[in-house]
Amino acid sequence: MCGIVGYVGPQACADILVDGLRRLEYRGYDSAGLAVFDGKRTGVVRAVGKLQNLVTALKEKPLPGSLGIGHTRWATHGRPTEVNAHPHCSGEIALVHNGIIENHIELKRHLAEEGVKFASDTDTEIVAHLIHREAKTGDDLLGAVRRALGHVHGAYAVAVMDARQPDRIVVAKNASPLVIGFGEGEMFCASDIPAILPYTKRMLPLEEGEIGVLTESGLELYTLDGKRVDRQPKTITWSASQAEKGGFKHFMLKEINEQPRAIEDTIRGRVDLAAGDVIESELGIDAETAKSLKRVYFIACGTSHHATLYGRFLMEHIAKVPSQTELASEFIGRDPVVGEGDLVVAVSQSGETLDTLAALKVAKEKGARILAVANVIDSAIPRAAHGAFYTHAGPEIGVASTKCFTTQLAAMVLLAVFLGRRRGTLEKERAQEILQNFVEIPNQMRTVLALDDIIRDLARPLAQAKSALFLGRGVSYPIAVEGALKLKEISYIHAEGYAAGEMKHGPIALIDADMPVIAVMPDDKAYEKIASNVQEAKAREGHVLAVATRHNADIGGIAHNAIYVPKVDPVLSPFVTALPLQLLSYFVADFKGTDVDQPRNLAKTVTVE
Ligand code: G6P
Repeated sequence: MCGIVGYVGPQACADILVDGLRRLEYRGYDSAGLAVFDGKRTGVVRAVGKLQNLVTALKEKPLPGSLGIGHTRWATHGRPTEVNAHPHCSGEIALVHNGIIENHIELKRHLAEEGVKFASDTDTEIVAHLIHREAKTGDDLLGAVRRALGHVHGAYAVAVMDARQPDRIVVAKNASPLVIGFGEGEMFCASDIPAILPYTKRMLPLEEGEIGVLTESGLELYTLDGKRVDRQPKTITWSASQAEKGGFKHFMLKEINEQPRAIEDTIRGRVDLAAGDVIESELGIDAETAKSLKRVYFIACGTSHHATLYGRFLMEHIAKVPSQTELASEFIGRDPVVGEGDLVVAVSQSGETLDTLAALKVAKEKGARILAVANVIDSAIPRAAHGAFYTHAGPEIGVASTKCFTTQLAAMVLLAVFLGRRRGTLEKERAQEILQNFVEIPNQMRTVLALDDIIRDLARPLAQAKSALFLGRGVSYPIAVEGALKLKEISYIHAEGYAAGEMKHGPIALIDADMPVIAVMPDDKAYEKIASNVQEAKAREGHVLAVATRHNADIGGIAHNAIYVPKVDPVLSPFVTALPLQLLSYFVADFKGTDVDQPRNLAKTVTVE
């Protein structure tokens, strides 16, 4: 999400910046802007919507000059409007930012007390004011940015200009990407390699906690605590299209690998570990409403529907509120009994799915309180809801949803803890335990992603199958159905996801040596029962692949093969069991040579009934 480009050198830079932003379009954005120093002052032009709108605005107000920064914004704090678009300015300072400032509310309060007036709703503008305040002490820009960032918690990549020091851009990175490009007598920075690949192949990605000064003569790099860093650029040999995919073969594989970061971004700033609580001001649910809830209805389609199955599990387990999930298209096809006292949670990665929007409207008319969970700020579904909770997966290009799915799962955890605490059904100590385990989940996900070679080998025989059965129980049932959907979406192999206990009521008739059975069976209270179901499949010559915890030593005697995931809090196991199934589908599809990122007949945003 968000794209940054910066240039310092001898050339007029507005076109270079716009060109770079164009190459970052794949990251998704809803507004864009440039700041260029013209020899006297810094001019800023910003526009909502496509880059073409920025180009048109630049025709009316050209930005001459050879020091500049540009940005494409994917809205997270504040709507996608011109005032919220970057660059943000404070005095002589202009800044672009990618990331999320966790403590923005507190920082904004302090600045407001000092008399600062804010032009936008963004967390970014706060950083511009902080740098401006520090720069007043007369120090160079590097020192001002360093001191300002000392107050900031969260994720950021920033590029900063000061019209009083017009030979430099200061850049810094913590958790959000930034790469430096080395030209001949000119320097670049960007969120990603493709933006500047046509201009230079010599690149240096910044590492966590690094801050640097770009001038025509090169890069001076330091750690945020002031130590000099000496690293040399590498020569990039990727093609432009490989670079867009971060070196991965497909966007889907890139997005699968982005999930730990996407979960971190979705959790960031929303969890108070000491209080054992979830901080969320956008939900539009006060303590009274939470306490008096009669029921939670989840409405969604496709993969988002599978995330809501987990939501229902958590809602019953943690918030102790009667819950049900509804396919949006079925909800509108009936005469649902829903109304006052009900919370309807509409979940949608695109925020635009017509069936979900229609279901939301039906529930709203009947008097229910509506909460949207979406990945695209200000899209139709959050706009129509009373409150919105945004997942911060960043744009997902692969049609088959992966990182949007797991960030929706994360939203379900946060929502259940939020309601559980307010309803008095979740003790502080257990909430602290869940949230502590939750913030550790991204690292556990990283260990699962490292199993990709093992999973690729297991995928090879599966590519020959005509059909596959995915089984799960309890918290793993949503993962089984999502695993089956992923396989059918991208490999075109027929697959069914089934509640393991239901296998004996039908699917067992299909099981023979040609029917692979994939069992999601982490170490939890459903383990013994699903182990029996798997034995039943094995007795009928079904070939069983288990996604299990190594802890369960008997798994070798139960399944033919196993993918071992780390042992985590049982209520959080979907985060580690979903990943092997995504990778499995991906490798099967890749072996079959299908169009992984754009499977036939499927669309990323479905705006038809
Ligand atoms: C399409 C997409 C799926 C998605 C579904 C629901 O079918 O290909 O990935 O799960 O729509 O979309 P939504 O945007 O509402 O989550």
